[in-house]
Amino acid sequence: MSMIMINDTGMIKFFPIILIFLTLAGVSLANTNHNVATFGAKPDGETDSSKAFLAAWSSACSTPARATIVVPPGQFMVRTPIIFSGQGCKSGGITFLMKGTIVGPVDFRVLAGSGGSTWVLFRDVNGITISGGVFDGRGAGLWACKRSGKGGCPDGVTTLGFSNSMNIIVNGVTSLNSQLYHIVVNGCKNVKIQGVRVLASGASPNTDGIHVQLSTSVTILNSNIGTGDDCISIGEGTTNLWIEGIACGPGHGISIGSLGKDLNEQGVQNVTVRSATFIGTENGVRIKSWARPSNGFVRNIVFQHLTMVNAQHPIIIDQKYCPDNKGCPKQVSGVRISDITYEDIHGTSATPIAMNFDCSSKYHCTNIKLEGINLTFNKKATSSFCVNAGGSTYGIVQPKSCL
Ligand SMILES: *[C@@H]1O[C@H](CO)[C@@H](O)[C@H](O)[C@H]1NC(C)=O
Ligand SMILES: *[C@@H]1O[C@H](CO)[C@@H](O)[C@H](O)[C@H]1NC(C)=O
Repeated sequence: MSMIMINDTGMIKFFPIILIFLTLAGVSLANTNHNVATFGAKPDGETDSSKAFLAAWSSACSTPARATIVVPPGQFMVRTPIIFSGQGCKSGGITFLMKGTIVGPVDFRVLAGSGGSTWVLFRDVNGITISGGVFDGRGAGLWACKRSGKGGCPDGVTTLGFSNSMNIIVNGVTSLNSQLYHIVVNGCKNVKIQGVRVLASGASPNTDGIHVQLSTSVTILNSNIGTGDDCISIGEGTTNLWIEGIACGPGHGISIGSLGKDLNEQGVQNVTVRSATFIGTENGVRIKSWARPSNGFVRNIVFQHLTMVNAQHPIIIDQKYCPDNKGCPKQVSGVRISDITYEDIHGTSATPIAMNFDCSSKYHCTNIKLEGINLTFNKKATSSFCVNAGGSTYGIVQPKSCL
Protein backbone atom coordinates (compact mmCIF):
# COMPACT_ATOMS: atom_id res chain seq x y z
CA MET A 1 0.00 0.00 0.00
CA SER A 2 1.42 3.38 -0.88
CA MET A 3 0.60 6.23 1.46
CA ILE A 4 0.48 9.82 0.43
CA MET A 5 1.21 11.92 3.48
CA ILE A 6 0.43 15.56 3.90
CA ASN A 7 3.58 16.50 5.68
CA ASP A 8 2.34 19.32 7.85
CA THR A 9 3.18 17.79 11.20
CA GLY A 10 5.89 15.53 12.45
CA MET A 11 3.26 13.05 13.65
CA ILE A 12 1.93 12.41 10.20
CA LYS A 13 5.39 11.97 8.77
CA PHE A 14 6.05 9.19 11.25
CA PHE A 15 2.65 7.60 10.86
CA PRO A 16 3.78 4.64 8.69
CA ILE A 17 6.48 3.82 11.24
CA ILE A 18 3.96 3.99 14.09
CA LEU A 19 1.63 1.77 12.06
CA ILE A 20 4.29 -0.88 11.57
CA PHE A 21 5.21 -0.66 15.25
CA LEU A 22 1.61 -1.11 16.39
CA THR A 23 1.08 -3.98 13.98
CA LEU A 24 4.19 -5.71 15.30
CA ALA A 25 2.90 -5.13 18.83
CA GLY A 26 -0.27 -6.97 17.87
CA VAL A 27 -2.53 -3.95 18.03
CA SER A 28 -5.18 -3.87 15.36
CA LEU A 29 -5.96 -0.47 13.96
CA ALA A 30 -8.99 -1.70 12.10
CA ASN A 31 -12.07 -0.11 13.58
CA THR A 32 -15.43 0.16 11.96
CA ASN A 33 -17.94 2.91 12.65
CA HIS A 34 -21.68 2.41 12.86
CA ASN A 35 -23.85 5.43 13.44
CA VAL A 36 -27.32 4.53 14.70
CA ALA A 37 -28.75 7.40 12.64
CA THR A 38 -27.74 5.65 9.41
CA PHE A 39 -29.80 2.67 10.58
CA GLY A 40 -32.87 4.84 11.02
CA ALA A 41 -32.63 6.08 14.62
CA LYS A 42 -34.29 9.49 15.00
CA PRO A 43 -33.10 12.07 17.59
CA ASP A 44 -36.65 13.41 18.02
CA GLY A 45 -37.43 11.77 21.38
CA GLU A 46 -40.52 10.07 19.92
CA THR A 47 -39.72 7.66 17.11
CA ASP A 48 -38.90 4.21 18.45
CA SER A 49 -35.23 3.64 17.66
CA SER A 50 -34.98 0.10 19.13
CA LYS A 51 -34.68 -1.62 15.73
CA ALA A 52 -32.05 0.89 14.56
CA PHE A 53 -29.91 0.23 17.66
CA LEU A 54 -30.15 -3.52 17.12
CA ALA A 55 -29.31 -3.13 13.42
CA ALA A 56 -26.21 -1.09 14.32
CA TRP A 57 -25.21 -3.85 16.77
CA SER A 58 -25.62 -6.58 14.11
CA SER A 59 -23.53 -4.53 11.73
CA ALA A 60 -20.80 -4.02 14.36
CA CYS A 61 -20.85 -7.76 15.08
CA SER A 62 -20.57 -8.83 11.47
CA THR A 63 -16.75 -8.56 11.18
CA PRO A 64 -13.86 -9.37 13.54
CA ALA A 65 -12.81 -5.71 13.63
CA ARG A 66 -13.19 -3.55 16.69
CA ALA A 67 -16.29 -1.46 16.22
CA THR A 68 -17.68 1.84 17.43
CA ILE A 69 -21.42 2.41 17.55
CA VAL A 70 -22.06 6.12 17.50
CA VAL A 71 -25.14 7.59 19.17
CA PRO A 72 -25.21 11.23 18.02
CA PRO A 73 -26.64 14.11 20.07
CA GLY A 74 -30.40 14.12 20.56
CA GLN A 75 -33.05 12.07 22.31
CA PHE A 76 -33.56 8.52 21.10
CA MET A 77 -36.69 6.72 22.22
CA VAL A 78 -36.26 3.04 23.05
CA ARG A 79 -39.79 1.78 23.69
CA THR A 80 -39.11 -1.88 24.30
CA PRO A 81 -36.40 -3.74 26.22
CA ILE A 82 -33.47 -4.45 23.89
CA ILE A 83 -30.82 -7.15 24.22
CA PHE A 84 -27.38 -6.74 22.70
CA SER A 85 -26.25 -10.33 22.53
CA GLY A 86 -22.66 -11.47 22.13
CA GLN A 87 -23.82 -14.84 20.76
CA GLY A 88 -22.44 -15.11 17.24
CA CYS A 89 -20.89 -11.65 17.49
CA LYS A 90 -17.56 -11.65 15.63
CA SER A 91 -16.30 -8.24 16.74
CA GLY A 92 -13.11 -8.02 18.80
CA GLY A 93 -14.72 -5.35 20.98
CA ILE A 94 -17.50 -2.83 20.67
CA THR A 95 -17.65 0.73 21.99
CA PHE A 96 -20.87 2.68 22.32
CA LEU A 97 -19.82 6.29 21.85
CA MET A 98 -22.79 8.11 23.29
CA LYS A 99 -23.37 11.78 22.76
CA GLY A 100 -27.13 11.58 23.02
CA THR A 101 -29.79 10.44 25.47
CA ILE A 102 -31.75 7.22 25.37
CA VAL A 103 -35.26 7.90 26.71
CA GLY A 104 -38.00 5.53 27.76
CA PRO A 105 -41.67 5.90 26.93
CA VAL A 106 -43.70 8.37 29.00
CA ASP A 107 -46.23 5.68 29.95
CA PHE A 108 -44.30 3.48 32.41
CA ARG A 109 -46.53 0.50 31.63
CA VAL A 110 -45.11 0.17 28.13
CA LEU A 111 -41.62 -0.82 29.34
CA ALA A 112 -42.68 -2.32 32.64
CA GLY A 113 -45.37 -4.47 31.03
CA SER A 114 -43.12 -5.75 28.26
CA GLY A 115 -42.17 -8.98 30.03
CA GLY A 116 -38.46 -8.09 30.02
CA SER A 117 -36.66 -7.24 33.25
CA THR A 118 -33.95 -4.96 31.82
CA TRP A 119 -34.43 -2.03 29.44
CA VAL A 120 -30.96 -2.14 27.81
CA LEU A 121 -29.22 -5.48 28.37
CA PHE A 122 -25.80 -6.71 27.25
CA ARG A 123 -25.70 -10.50 27.42
CA ASP A 124 -22.89 -13.00 26.70
CA VAL A 125 -20.63 -10.19 25.48
CA ASN A 126 -16.82 -10.15 25.67
CA GLY A 127 -15.42 -6.62 25.31
CA ILE A 128 -17.95 -3.82 25.59
CA THR A 129 -17.39 -0.15 26.42
CA ILE A 130 -20.16 2.35 27.02
CA SER A 131 -18.76 5.85 26.93
CA GLY A 132 -20.76 8.93 27.88
CA GLY A 133 -24.42 9.50 27.24
CA VAL A 134 -27.56 9.52 29.31
CA PHE A 135 -30.19 6.86 30.01
CA ASP A 136 -33.46 8.41 31.13
CA GLY A 137 -35.84 5.73 32.41
CA ARG A 138 -38.67 8.18 33.16
CA GLY A 139 -39.62 6.10 36.20
CA ALA A 140 -41.46 8.77 38.21
CA GLY A 141 -44.92 7.52 37.15
CA LEU A 142 -44.14 4.01 38.35
CA TRP A 143 -42.74 5.26 41.68
CA ALA A 144 -45.94 7.25 42.23
CA CYS A 145 -48.00 4.14 41.50
CA LYS A 146 -45.96 2.08 43.99
CA ARG A 147 -46.09 4.78 46.65
CA SER A 148 -49.86 5.24 46.31
CA GLY A 149 -50.30 1.83 47.98
CA LYS A 150 -53.21 1.01 45.67
CA GLY A 151 -51.42 -1.99 44.20
CA GLY A 152 -51.56 -3.19 40.62
CA CYS A 153 -48.22 -1.63 39.80
CA PRO A 154 -45.70 -3.60 37.72
CA ASP A 155 -42.20 -4.23 39.17
CA GLY A 156 -40.57 -2.13 36.46
CA VAL A 157 -37.31 -2.69 34.60
CA THR A 158 -33.63 -2.18 35.40
CA THR A 159 -32.20 0.52 33.15
CA LEU A 160 -28.80 -0.89 32.11
CA GLY A 161 -27.74 -4.49 32.65
CA PHE A 162 -24.74 -6.70 31.94
CA SER A 163 -25.24 -10.39 32.24
CA ASN A 164 -22.84 -13.31 31.74
CA SER A 165 -20.29 -10.97 30.14
CA MET A 166 -16.65 -9.98 30.55
CA ASN A 167 -14.25 -7.09 29.90
CA ILE A 168 -16.76 -4.34 30.41
CA ILE A 169 -16.09 -0.60 30.75
CA VAL A 170 -18.79 1.89 31.67
CA ASN A 171 -17.31 5.37 31.55
CA GLY A 172 -18.98 8.73 32.15
CA VAL A 173 -22.51 7.40 31.79
CA THR A 174 -25.48 9.13 33.44
CA SER A 175 -28.56 7.19 34.52
CA LEU A 176 -31.65 9.21 35.41
CA ASN A 177 -34.89 8.16 37.06
CA SER A 178 -34.77 4.44 36.51
CA GLN A 179 -38.00 2.51 37.06
CA LEU A 180 -36.10 -0.06 39.14
CA TYR A 181 -32.31 -0.61 39.56
CA HIS A 182 -30.14 1.76 37.52
CA ILE A 183 -27.15 -0.47 36.61
CA VAL A 184 -26.89 -4.22 37.26
CA VAL A 185 -23.77 -6.37 36.86
CA ASN A 186 -24.77 -10.04 37.02
CA GLY A 187 -22.52 -13.01 36.30
CA CYS A 188 -19.68 -10.88 34.92
CA LYS A 189 -15.90 -10.78 35.07
CA ASN A 190 -13.49 -7.87 34.75
CA VAL A 191 -15.76 -4.85 34.92
CA LYS A 192 -14.75 -1.21 35.32
CA ILE A 193 -17.39 1.40 36.08
CA GLN A 194 -16.11 4.95 36.43
CA GLY A 195 -17.30 8.54 36.40
CA VAL A 196 -20.90 7.40 36.50
CA ARG A 197 -23.73 9.62 37.68
CA VAL A 198 -26.97 8.19 39.03
CA LEU A 199 -29.79 10.56 39.77
CA ALA A 200 -33.25 9.72 41.10
CA SER A 201 -35.52 10.97 43.88
CA GLY A 202 -34.68 9.95 47.44
CA ALA A 203 -38.29 8.70 47.59
CA SER A 204 -38.09 6.39 44.57
CA PRO A 205 -38.62 2.74 45.59
CA ASN A 206 -36.04 0.04 44.69
CA THR A 207 -33.95 2.28 42.47
CA ASP A 208 -30.53 0.97 43.59
CA GLY A 209 -27.71 2.82 41.85
CA ILE A 210 -25.34 -0.04 41.01
CA HIS A 211 -26.04 -3.67 41.91
CA VAL A 212 -23.33 -6.34 41.61
CA GLN A 213 -23.86 -10.08 42.02
CA LEU A 214 -22.28 -13.39 40.99
CA SER A 215 -19.39 -11.39 39.57
CA THR A 216 -15.65 -11.09 40.08
CA SER A 217 -13.02 -8.37 39.51
CA VAL A 218 -15.35 -5.41 39.46
CA THR A 219 -14.13 -1.84 40.09
CA ILE A 220 -16.42 1.11 40.69
CA LEU A 221 -14.59 4.44 40.76
CA ASN A 222 -15.30 8.15 41.14
CA SER A 223 -19.04 8.05 40.82
CA ASN A 224 -21.83 10.20 42.16
CA ILE A 225 -24.97 8.38 43.20
CA GLY A 226 -28.19 9.86 44.55
CA THR A 227 -31.24 7.61 44.61
CA GLY A 228 -34.10 6.11 46.65
CA ASP A 229 -32.46 2.82 47.62
CA ASP A 230 -28.87 1.56 48.02
CA CYS A 231 -26.26 3.64 46.20
CA ILE A 232 -24.38 0.39 45.65
CA SER A 233 -25.76 -3.03 46.60
CA ILE A 234 -23.62 -6.15 46.66
CA GLY A 235 -25.35 -9.47 46.22
CA GLU A 236 -24.36 -13.12 46.55
CA GLY A 237 -21.30 -14.45 44.75
CA THR A 238 -19.46 -11.13 44.57
CA THR A 239 -15.67 -11.45 44.89
CA ASN A 240 -12.76 -9.04 44.36
CA LEU A 241 -14.84 -5.88 44.27
CA TRP A 242 -13.12 -2.50 44.64
CA ILE A 243 -15.17 0.64 45.26
CA GLU A 244 -13.41 4.00 45.56
CA GLY A 245 -14.28 7.67 45.31
CA ILE A 246 -18.06 7.50 45.72
CA ALA A 247 -20.40 10.30 46.75
CA CYS A 248 -23.63 8.70 47.99
CA GLY A 249 -26.82 10.55 48.90
CA PRO A 250 -29.70 10.61 49.03
CA GLY A 251 -29.91 6.85 49.32
CA HIS A 252 -29.56 3.86 51.63
CA GLY A 253 -25.75 3.76 51.54
CA ILE A 254 -23.44 0.98 50.36
CA SER A 255 -24.83 -2.40 51.32
CA ILE A 256 -23.60 -5.97 51.26
CA GLY A 257 -26.93 -7.78 51.08
CA SER A 258 -29.60 -8.57 51.63
CA LEU A 259 -28.01 -12.00 51.73
CA GLY A 260 -29.17 -15.37 53.01
CA LYS A 261 -32.73 -15.37 51.79
CA ASP A 262 -32.06 -18.79 50.29
CA LEU A 263 -30.46 -21.83 51.87
CA ASN A 264 -27.91 -22.29 49.11
CA GLU A 265 -26.11 -19.10 48.36
CA GLN A 266 -22.65 -18.12 47.18
CA GLY A 267 -20.66 -16.00 49.60
CA VAL A 268 -19.26 -12.50 49.28
CA GLN A 269 -15.52 -12.00 49.76
CA ASN A 270 -12.69 -9.54 49.24
CA VAL A 271 -14.64 -6.30 48.97
CA THR A 272 -12.98 -2.91 49.59
CA VAL A 273 -14.94 0.32 49.98
CA ARG A 274 -12.53 3.25 50.18
CA SER A 275 -12.81 7.05 50.16
CA ALA A 276 -16.55 7.46 50.05
CA THR A 277 -18.81 10.19 51.39
CA PHE A 278 -22.34 9.56 52.62
CA ILE A 279 -24.59 12.61 52.76
CA GLY A 280 -27.93 12.34 54.55
CA THR A 281 -28.16 8.64 53.80
CA GLU A 282 -30.13 6.00 55.69
CA ASN A 283 -27.01 3.89 56.21
CA GLY A 284 -23.34 4.39 55.62
CA VAL A 285 -21.82 0.94 55.18
CA ARG A 286 -24.13 -1.96 55.91
CA ILE A 287 -24.00 -5.73 55.93
CA LYS A 288 -27.48 -7.20 55.94
CA SER A 289 -28.80 -10.75 56.00
CA TRP A 290 -32.17 -12.40 56.36
CA ALA A 291 -32.92 -14.16 59.65
CA ARG A 292 -33.20 -17.43 57.73
CA PRO A 293 -31.15 -20.62 57.32
CA SER A 294 -28.42 -20.19 54.70
CA ASN A 295 -24.95 -21.43 53.90
CA GLY A 296 -23.80 -18.01 52.69
CA PHE A 297 -20.91 -15.97 54.09
CA VAL A 298 -19.30 -12.54 54.06
CA ARG A 299 -15.53 -12.31 54.66
CA ASN A 300 -12.46 -10.16 54.04
CA ILE A 301 -14.20 -6.84 53.75
CA VAL A 302 -12.49 -3.46 54.23
CA PHE A 303 -14.32 -0.17 54.81
CA GLN A 304 -11.71 2.59 54.81
CA HIS A 305 -11.43 6.41 54.74
CA LEU A 306 -15.13 7.17 54.86
CA THR A 307 -16.88 10.44 55.70
CA MET A 308 -20.39 10.46 57.14
CA VAL A 309 -22.53 13.59 56.93
CA ASN A 310 -25.66 12.91 58.97
CA ALA A 311 -25.96 9.26 58.02
CA GLN A 312 -28.64 7.61 60.16
CA HIS A 313 -26.70 4.37 60.67
CA PRO A 314 -23.09 5.01 59.67
CA ILE A 315 -21.80 1.52 60.53
CA ILE A 316 -24.26 -1.34 60.70
CA ILE A 317 -24.45 -5.12 60.54
CA ASP A 318 -28.05 -6.37 60.63
CA GLN A 319 -28.61 -10.11 60.55
CA LYS A 320 -32.24 -9.95 61.66
CA TYR A 321 -33.81 -8.80 58.42
CA CYS A 322 -37.31 -10.25 58.12
CA PRO A 323 -39.83 -7.88 56.60
CA ASP A 324 -43.35 -8.36 58.02
CA ASN A 325 -41.92 -11.20 60.14
CA LYS A 326 -42.78 -13.68 57.43
CA GLY A 327 -40.81 -16.78 56.44
CA CYS A 328 -38.10 -16.63 59.11
CA PRO A 329 -38.80 -19.82 61.09
CA LYS A 330 -36.32 -19.39 63.98
CA GLN A 331 -35.34 -15.81 63.26
CA VAL A 332 -31.68 -16.82 63.00
CA SER A 333 -29.36 -16.09 60.10
CA GLY A 334 -27.08 -18.79 58.73
CA VAL A 335 -24.79 -16.27 57.03
CA ARG A 336 -21.26 -16.33 58.52
CA ILE A 337 -19.66 -12.91 58.82
CA SER A 338 -15.91 -12.64 59.52
CA ASP A 339 -12.84 -10.47 58.98
CA ILE A 340 -14.51 -7.10 58.57
CA THR A 341 -12.28 -4.03 58.95
CA TYR A 342 -13.55 -0.50 59.61
CA GLU A 343 -10.73 2.03 59.40
CA ASP A 344 -10.66 5.84 59.43
CA ILE A 345 -14.38 6.51 59.47
CA HIS A 346 -15.41 9.91 60.72
CA GLY A 347 -18.11 12.56 60.60
CA THR A 348 -21.65 12.85 61.87
CA SER A 349 -24.39 10.37 62.64
CA ALA A 350 -28.06 11.40 62.47
CA THR A 351 -28.87 9.07 65.39
CA PRO A 352 -27.12 8.46 68.75
CA ILE A 353 -26.17 4.86 67.92
CA ALA A 354 -23.50 5.25 65.28
CA MET A 355 -22.22 1.69 65.33
CA ASN A 356 -24.55 -1.27 65.37
CA PHE A 357 -23.49 -4.92 65.18
CA ASP A 358 -26.54 -7.16 65.44
CA CYS A 359 -25.19 -10.59 64.52
CA SER A 360 -26.56 -14.11 64.27
CA SER A 361 -26.85 -16.19 67.44
CA LYS A 362 -25.92 -19.28 65.42
CA TYR A 363 -22.74 -17.86 63.85
CA HIS A 364 -21.37 -14.84 65.67
CA CYS A 365 -19.61 -12.13 63.69
CA THR A 366 -15.88 -12.74 64.19
CA ASN A 367 -12.73 -10.70 63.80
CA ILE A 368 -14.34 -7.32 63.34
CA LYS A 369 -11.52 -4.78 63.43
CA LEU A 370 -12.09 -1.13 64.35
CA GLU A 371 -9.39 1.49 63.92
CA GLY A 372 -9.60 5.27 63.87
CA ILE A 373 -13.35 5.83 64.18
CA ASN A 374 -14.77 9.20 65.22
CA LEU A 375 -18.50 9.69 64.79
CA THR A 376 -20.49 12.35 66.60
CA PHE A 377 -24.19 13.06 67.05
CA ASN A 378 -25.25 16.67 67.63
CA LYS A 379 -21.62 17.45 68.51
CA LYS A 380 -21.82 14.87 71.31
CA ALA A 381 -20.40 11.39 71.68
CA THR A 382 -22.26 8.50 70.09
CA SER A 383 -22.76 4.99 71.39
CA SER A 384 -22.49 1.50 69.96
CA PHE A 385 -24.62 -1.63 70.14
CA CYS A 386 -23.39 -5.22 69.91
CA VAL A 387 -25.08 -8.61 69.87
CA ASN A 388 -23.00 -11.72 69.13
CA ALA A 389 -20.12 -9.64 67.73
CA GLY A 390 -16.41 -10.12 68.47
CA GLY A 391 -13.21 -8.45 67.38
CA SER A 392 -10.58 -5.90 68.30
CA THR A 393 -10.00 -2.15 68.34
CA TYR A 394 -6.94 -0.01 67.62
CA GLY A 395 -6.33 3.70 68.20
CA ILE A 396 -9.19 6.10 68.68
CA VAL A 397 -12.61 4.52 68.49
CA GLN A 398 -15.54 6.80 69.22
CA PRO A 399 -18.26 5.56 69.89
CA LYS A 400 -16.62 3.30 72.44
CA SER A 401 -16.46 -0.23 71.10
CA CYS A 402 -18.79 -2.90 72.50
CA LEU A 403 -17.09 -5.80 70.73
C1 LIG B 1 -8.90 -8.83 46.19
O1 LIG B 1 -9.47 -7.99 45.20
C2 LIG B 1 -8.55 -7.13 44.58
C3 LIG B 1 -9.34 -6.29 43.59
O2 LIG B 1 -10.36 -5.62 44.24
C4 LIG B 1 -7.47 -7.92 43.89
O3 LIG B 1 -6.53 -7.03 43.32
C5 LIG B 1 -6.80 -8.83 44.87
O4 LIG B 1 -5.87 -9.65 44.20
C6 LIG B 1 -7.83 -9.70 45.56
N1 LIG B 1 -7.20 -10.49 46.61
C7 LIG B 1 -7.31 -11.80 46.65
C8 LIG B 1 -6.63 -12.45 47.80
O5 LIG B 1 -7.94 -12.46 45.83
C1 LIG C 1 -13.83 13.73 66.82
O1 LIG C 1 -14.38 14.65 65.91
C2 LIG C 1 -14.83 15.85 66.54
C3 LIG C 1 -15.56 16.66 65.50
O2 LIG C 1 -14.79 16.81 64.35
C4 LIG C 1 -13.64 16.56 67.14
O3 LIG C 1 -14.06 17.76 67.80
C5 LIG C 1 -12.97 15.64 68.15
O4 LIG C 1 -11.80 16.25 68.66
C6 LIG C 1 -12.62 14.32 67.52
N1 LIG C 1 -12.18 13.40 68.57
C7 LIG C 1 -11.02 12.77 68.51
C8 LIG C 1 -10.72 11.90 69.67
O5 LIG C 1 -10.24 12.86 67.57
